[in-house]
Amino acid sequence: MKSSDFSDTEHHYDEIAQQWADAKSIPYIEYILTPSLLKLIGPVDGKTVLDLACGEGADLRHLKKLGAADVLGVDISHEMIHLARNAEKEEPLGCRYLVGDAAQLQLDEQFDLVIGAFLLNHASSKEQLLSLFSAIAGALTPGGRFVGLNVNMAIETAHYDDLRKYGRWMTTTPDRKEGDMIVVHHRNPDGSEMIIENFYLSPETYAAAAAEAGLKNFRWLALSVSQAGLDAYPPGFWDEFFETPQVMGIAADL
Ligand SMILES: C[S@@+](CC[C@H](N)C(=O)[O-])C[C@H]1O[C@@H](n2cnc3c(N)ncnc32)[C@H](O)[C@@H]1O
Repeated sequence: MKSSDFSDTEHHYDEIAQQWADAKSIPYIEYILTPSLLKLIGPVDGKTVLDLACGEGADLRHLKKLGAADVLGVDISHEMIHLARNAEKEEPLGCRYLVGDAAQLQLDEQFDLVIGAFLLNHASSKEQLLSLFSAIAGALTPGGRFVGLNVNMAIETAHYDDLRKYGRWMTTTPDRKEGDMIVVHHRNPDGSEMIIENFYLSPETYAAAAAEAGLKNFRWLALSVSQAGLDAYPPGFWDEFFETPQVMGIAADL
């Protein structure tokens, strides 16, 4: 894999890798994002899975425990892969990891399922998005499926401040246009703020790039709150999240 123009992303995630791993206990991540992704993925028994932008590997480890036959995680951040490999050392499950840029992916194997949780929203141009979708298409076996999570590109910037009560808000330029940065802010369990830099591309650009890469039926999918999340909070607590969801599921088929 060659180096790419996602190198700023690489450095940023090297700095916040542990913070991101710890952020998994932020309630909206624990009770909405993680369970929704697993629900959208569905049964993995006996399937081969590639996780692009696997981060510290928690999702992949979960899928392996659920019965996935063979799993490979790829992430551009050395530090993220370091955390993933440490977890594998502590509890060997047979998960494999590679440091690399998903946009430059050259693997000599294909997978039943490709996961991309917060991968595509790092693309700042249609060309970058196309290179990521092409890598996804190239890594899938015929009939395979891509599933992920992504910043919801369909909501207006006026709603970027709506989810503060859950510890998440986003900022961008006043006249947000294609390629502009979206900064995602998180309030971490320890009170500190974690910042993630993503980019805006319209839903139309996403659909066009997916189709150009040879993927069919690119779709945005609703998330849901887990039973544990409903049980842990008063009725209605999660409603605002779903009125203007800043994160959506995504999927496409080869
Ligand atoms: C917000 S984290 C999500 C990690 C993981 N998917 C999860 O949901 O826990 C985004 C990840 O995308 C990775 N990433 C961003 N651009 C990438 C690229 N071009 N190739 C591979 N990984 C990338 C970052 O290094 C980071 O680990």
